[in-house]
Amino acid sequence: TAPRILAFAGSARQESWNKKLIAIAAAGARDAGAEVTLIDLRDYPIPIYDGDDESEHGMPVQAQALRKLMLSHQGLLLASPEYNGSIPPLLKNVIDWISRPVSGQPGPSPYSGKVATLMSASPGGFGGLRGLVHVRAILGNLGMIVLPEQLAIGSAHEAFAADGSMHNAKQQSAVAELGAGQARLLAKLLGVTLSTDC
Ligand code: FNR
Repeated sequence: TAPRILAFAGSARQESWNKKLIAIAAAGARDAGAEVTLIDLRDYPIPIYDGDDESEHGMPVQAQALRKLMLSHQGLLLASPEYNGSIPPLLKNVIDWISRPVSGQPGPSPYSGKVATLMSASPGGFGGLRGLVHVRAILGNLGMIVLPEQLAIGSAHEAFAADGSMHNAKQQSAVAELGAGQARLLAKLLGVTLSTDC
């Protein structure tokens, strides 16, 4: 079976640059033979974490759904905006909810031993690079193998065409290759052959 990769952007915004970016990386991973589930966090509206929500009533259903998704995939492709030099609250909240056991029952870690690849996009010059430092640390703490390869796309407001592709073809292939690279590494780790290998 093909490696399974979950992909999303840490932004709910309809015209999010990070959503455009993750779509390219996800396509790269898919073309390399991975099974990619690309989701939009806008479809998973969850409240800011409140301990009472899990102990009294069980985890919010959308948080449970995200947790199940992370549990059923071996890889994570993540494109995160940078807010004031750090991780946006939407993404931190999602990471936190996924880390919680459902209805207080201990279960397997959705993160431990899984592989994550990070990227970011920002209209600014650094492309959100400073925020990725924090995202990397958080996911590393959760036991994820966060790959050294990453990309931060600066001047994002000028980088994408209306159809979601990137004006700079070299940049576009580098983003797709980031996804493809994770697919190949996962296949190696899992001891499976990618359908594109033959
Ligand atoms: C930002 N933005 C931003 N950009 C950046 O490069 N460095 C930063 O520290 C910040 N800080 C920041 C804080 C807050 C509260 C907001 C709302 C925005 C700008 C940010 O990169 C821009 O809004 C992007 O468009 C967000 O990503 P999406 O939504 O396009 O994916």
